[in-house]
Amino acid sequence: MPLRFILTAIIILGAITLWVNQPPSLPDYSIPQSDESITRGEYLVHAAGCISCHLAPDGGEALSGGQALLSPFGTFYAPNITPDPATGIGNWTGTDFIGALKHGRNPDGGFYYPALPYRSYQGMTDEDVLAVAAYLMQQEPVTATAPTHELRPWLGRWTLGFWNRLADLSEPDFPDYDDPQVERGAYLARNLGHCGECHTPRSGLGIPLYEREFSGAPLPEGEADDITREALGEWSEEDFAFFLFLGIKPDGEFVGGEMEPVIEHNTSTLTQEDREALAAFFLRRGNGPSE
Ligand code: HEC
Ligand code: HEC
Repeated sequence: MPLRFILTAIIILGAITLWVNQPPSLPDYSIPQSDESITRGEYLVHAAGCISCHLAPDGGEALSGGQALLSPFGTFYAPNITPDPATGIGNWTGTDFIGALKHGRNPDGGFYYPALPYRSYQGMTDEDVLAVAAYLMQQEPVTATAPTHELRPWLGRWTLGFWNRLADLSEPDFPDYDDPQVERGAYLARNLGHCGECHTPRSGLGIPLYEREFSGAPLPEGEADDITREALGEWSEEDFAFFLFLGIKPDGEFVGGEMEPVIEHNTSTLTQEDREALAAFFLRRGNGPSE
């Protein structure tokens, strides 16, 4: 009897493990070559904040990685995303980029850690992901290998299939907005700019608590403010757009901490139109949970 029980348990566990790790079936995507895609990709690499994490730590301009990213689960090191075939992404196809940025999968089918914010990027359009790829492939290849992540010993990649299924369950269906400016702002905030990765609190397992979306969260160093409409109180849309450009708040104070690189590499490089769309999203839409 006990043996049969153990065997049944092993079979069920095995089936669950296969199910949570089942790779997405993706069509073949190719990386566009047009100047238009490359220019668009450059804009998106800033809008999506890839620069803040993947820049070399010595302040070099290349996206050759190596920067330490602190988290409650340990230290991650952003890898080299220049097109060096041996140490970077030189051999990647369009499908590899879609798999990594929208599904959190490496080219062999295993999971990436969500330190690469693919839970946010999953809402990116395929066209935008491929434009990012087009731009990255035009960069000067750099030979560089990031240090190995230093994580809690139990945090193996095998945990990530389960983690992602749990995160799927708690994720709401985000609404569409009638106002096109708010709709564009939602794409910039929830997907490209991944504002919630820092500003939305998380459970002990690191899963975002969407019912408290953007209501502020502790970070390994400091804290990301509550940026819901109630908390922003007196901020006008002009104040918000101006803040995203220069990092100056309505009371004249400069923002600091981890928001500084977000302003420098991401929001200050956006078009004024996109900063206004972000302001419209944060200050004009409904203010209920995940509205
Ligand atoms: C918050 C920091 C952060 C941001 C923002 C970020 N990444 Fe990453 N990225 C990482 C980390 C950390 C990894 C390694 C994940 C792992 O080892 O599981 C990674 C992995 C990758 C990989 C896999 C590389 C390989 O060799 O396997 C690619 C490609 C990538 N990122 C591209 C991008 C692009 C493009 C953007 C912007 C659209 C971006 N990343 C934004 C932190 C970040
Ligand atoms: C890497 C983490 C991170 C990301 C990503 C991020 N923020 Fe922040 N943000 C912070 C931190 C930390 C602070 C507090 C900075 C300080 O202490 O001065 C902050 C402060 C702010 C403030 C000031 C609020 C106040 O009341 O003073 C606003 C507004 C803001 N962020 C908006 C955004 C928007 C919009 C996005 C997405 C485009 C975003 N943030 C993405 C970490 C982040």
